[in-house]
Amino acid sequence: MKRELVVVIDFGGQYNQLVARRVRECNVYCEIYSYKTNLEKIRAMNPKGIILTGGPNSCYKEDSPTCSKELFELGIPVLGLCYGAQLMQHVLGGKVARADVREYGKTEVLIDKPSSKLFDGVSERTVCWMSHFDTIFEVAEGFEITAHTTDCPVAAAENVEAGLYGIQYHPEVLHTAEGTKMISNFVLDVCECVGDWRMDSFVEESIKQIREKVGDGKVLCALSGGVDSSVAAVLLSKAIGNQLTCVFVDHGLLRKNEGDEVEEIFGINGQYDLNFIRVNAQQRFYDKLAGVSEPEQKRKIIGEEFIRVFEEEAKKIGTVDFLVQGTIYPDVVESGLGGESVVIKSHHNVGGLPDYVDFKEIIEPLRDLFKDEVRQAGLELDIPEYLVFRQPFPGPGLGVRIIGEVTVDKVRIVQEADAIFREEIASAGLDRSIGQYFAGLTNMQSVGVMGDERTYDYAVALRAVNTIDFMTAEAVEVPYEVLNKVMSRIINEVKGVNRIFYDLTSKPPGTIEFE
Ligand code: XMP
Repeated sequence: MKRELVVVIDFGGQYNQLVARRVRECNVYCEIYSYKTNLEKIRAMNPKGIILTGGPNSCYKEDSPTCSKELFELGIPVLGLCYGAQLMQHVLGGKVARADVREYGKTEVLIDKPSSKLFDGVSERTVCWMSHFDTIFEVAEGFEITAHTTDCPVAAAENVEAGLYGIQYHPEVLHTAEGTKMISNFVLDVCECVGDWRMDSFVEESIKQIREKVGDGKVLCALSGGVDSSVAAVLLSKAIGNQLTCVFVDHGLLRKNEGDEVEEIFGINGQYDLNFIRVNAQQRFYDKLAGVSEPEQKRKIIGEEFIRVFEEEAKKIGTVDFLVQGTIYPDVVESGLGGESVVIKSHHNVGGLPDYVDFKEIIEPLRDLFKDEVRQAGLELDIPEYLVFRQPFPGPGLGVRIIGEVTVDKVRIVQEADAIFREEIASAGLDRSIGQYFAGLTNMQSVGVMGDERTYDYAVALRAVNTIDFMTAEAVEVPYEVLNKVMSRIINEVKGVNRIFYDLTSKPPGTIEFE
């Protein structure tokens, strides 16, 4: 099936993945490419539209990211956002320079041309998110100014005949009240996309493609029970049934009951047609981790041991044709393969790429999807909701939620405390609104009293954060009564704990995890 494509050209701005997501919310498929991408390659993709993103540079400086004039002459509509809008003017002969006033934050934009296709259905005074030092002072020939602000004569400009549009703010962020409308106007009205990219068609199409690719080959998948690997496994199972073998390594650092839950869903009594192998390697991991307190070393041990266990299982299976990776689109972009915002992922999933597994090719069935789209695909595939909406859980598991040495007893404490915290967050109805929340175990023991007895027990830390991109995060204001209830339940129900802290730290300076 030929699908409509909008190309986002990345100039290094921080919201670039959001731009692509907003386009996909219009049911139009969208990919991000670096500004360095060859023009011929873009032409060959035959996109219905091109969006130039924001970026931190000044477009008139010599070594700033740029694009060629020909990009605007392809006959494909182009929308420039912020830096993208400035660059469009700069390249085509307009004037961009440093402004006297930096525009930053929510700003009222006054629409001068309400009949513009871009502003169809948008209020004539509308609040937009600004973030720029430079500004457009004069537009290039053929352009008309379509919006302004108090400080800035050109908030938007267009050359309808050439299909070129520029707006000097960020419609992709939610602070721009009618931003989604503007993006959908561009994508659906200006570019004339039909908007038929949907999850059910993705699922159907992927199943067909997987069948074609795999033929009667054997496929191996490392299943963690997380959202991505679960959705990938179910998709493959629907496509090729028991040609798929899933290996689930229980490293003993999972959340309470998680190992059994994964087995219940994917194992022999579960509802999917696949071969499921659970490896109970808990003791192996505990032995390797004994006496180790340094966080990076713990991560390394867990990662390496995971690969060893996985390889041993794979060897028993023998040669396989394909190995499944749960890569999703942000991984592709962040590893620098897609766009320009090269933030090399600092965390690798446990497992990485097992070096010695004998396989011919990798399959990455979720490579094109954002996280929320992976979840939609999961729902399409009838995966239970609690699994689909599971919060992120790091590959090294509770290994990065226990400060200092990992012991069986500490694992028990953190598992139980965490289960109570999650239960109470869910019963307060907060589970879908908090990005990530969990209990961690400090390495601190202190004196307390319980009944008439003196105790010398551990302190548990509760952590709840909201984050958009996992690069930054803020602690959530969990209602006091919820925290209080969690505190008293943990103290009463979890042996070995006599103090509870709430971690208020944002990221930076903290990290999300607790290690
Ligand atoms: P930090 O702690 O670095 O975490 O602020 C950012 C996000 O990444 C998750 N995380 C990991 N995910 N393997 C993963 O799959 C890992 O090793 C790992 N370490 C951290 C963390 O849960 C948070 O969502």
